[in-house]
Amino acid sequence: LEVNEVAVKVFGYSRDEFLHMRTTDLGVTESGETTGELHHLSPLTQKERKQRTRKGKTIDVDIDLHTFEYDGRPAALAIVQDVTERRKLELDLRHAQKLEAVGGLAAGIAHEINTPIQFVGDNLRFLQDAFASLGKLLVEYRGLVAPIASAGINPALLAEIDRAEAEADIEYLLEEMPKAMSQSLDGVERVATIVRAMKEFAHPEQKEKVAANLNQALASTLVVARNELKYVADIEADYGDLPAVECHLGDLNQVFLNLLINAAHAVKDVVDVTGTRGTIGVQTRAIENVVNISISDTGGGIPESIRNKIFEPFFTTKPVGRGTGQGLAIARSIVVDKHGGTLTFESSMGHGTTFLISLPIHGPGCVSRL
Ligand SMILES: Nc1ncnc2c1ncn2[C@@H]1O[C@H](COP(=O)(O)OP(=O)(O)O)[C@@H](O)[C@H]1O
Ligand SMILES: [Mg+2]
Repeated sequence: LEVNEVAVKVFGYSRDEFLHMRTTDLGVTESGETTGELHHLSPLTQKERKQRTRKGKTIDVDIDLHTFEYDGRPAALAIVQDVTERRKLELDLRHAQKLEAVGGLAAGIAHEINTPIQFVGDNLRFLQDAFASLGKLLVEYRGLVAPIASAGINPALLAEIDRAEAEADIEYLLEEMPKAMSQSLDGVERVATIVRAMKEFAHPEQKEKVAANLNQALASTLVVARNELKYVADIEADYGDLPAVECHLGDLNQVFLNLLINAAHAVKDVVDVTGTRGTIGVQTRAIENVVNISISDTGGGIPESIRNKIFEPFFTTKPVGRGTGQGLAIARSIVVDKHGGTLTFESSMGHGTTFLISLPIHGPGCVSRL
């Protein structure tokens, strides 16, 4: 048996150790057990398998097996390629594509809901007005009852009307119907706001940058993220006067969302201990040809020891399901690489964290263009 240097490096066994091993000692099945004979597998089935390194780490490998005769004895050459990183990237890509598909669907659904919710709203407003008029008319008609009764005209019909009024509980209806209408209108308007925010948030990405109102974008993102935020923190939004910013709005919305969710997580960890709600602040300011957006929280802060790691892809301190460690890496790539801006933070243990996004109004290169 002979192995090359890369094999020694990847698997962590010394050349000497390798020479005393069988090829089957490296393979693992899905369930983690050592597999059967490598040289009994046909080249096709050896593609994309898992093997174990000396330290017990499982790696994904592609194996190309060639059998031949050497000195009249059967021999085999296995070309093993470590594809762990590639598999991981493929998985991430699939995940990202899934999210993108969900995002696209969400935009479509928001669009679909928008139309009916609009006419439900319009009709409710119409009914509200109509009922206000009818109610007034009804009161006038009812005013006729007393004079007609005292004049003794058609008592049988009057008795019938009395009965019908009692059956309809007219006083109650006159009182409650306007309330029911305005509550329904409230609800419909809330749904319409969410749908509008969803549409704006999931705005299909354009190739070119477009001038956008970032205050409105932040407001939409806050609506979309409301369910993540409202149980743990009060939102304090302070929007300054902003010029339109040339940007990829869908991407920036993603950044805002990532930072807001991080803030909500940080606040929640504190709330779980203290039981008192926190605050998440959003502030925007324009200074010359730069727009500054800060998102601050009253969470526990970012420990000194990890401050230089948080922007790294896949760095996370959160359990699986809560975090993937990609939020800040994506945010930085969007802000810095795509928009020529900066993404920085200040953090104080026990007090909270503020992330600051600075964006050039006219996109990267604007400073040199001026
Ligand atoms: N506002 C914040 N307060 C405290 N820690 C934070 C905050 N934002 C980010 N972090 C830290 O940075 C890490 C990386 O963040 P991120 O890239 O968004 O990934 P994820 O949120 O999936 O963990 C988080 O796991 C957390 O430890
Ligand atoms: Mg995150």
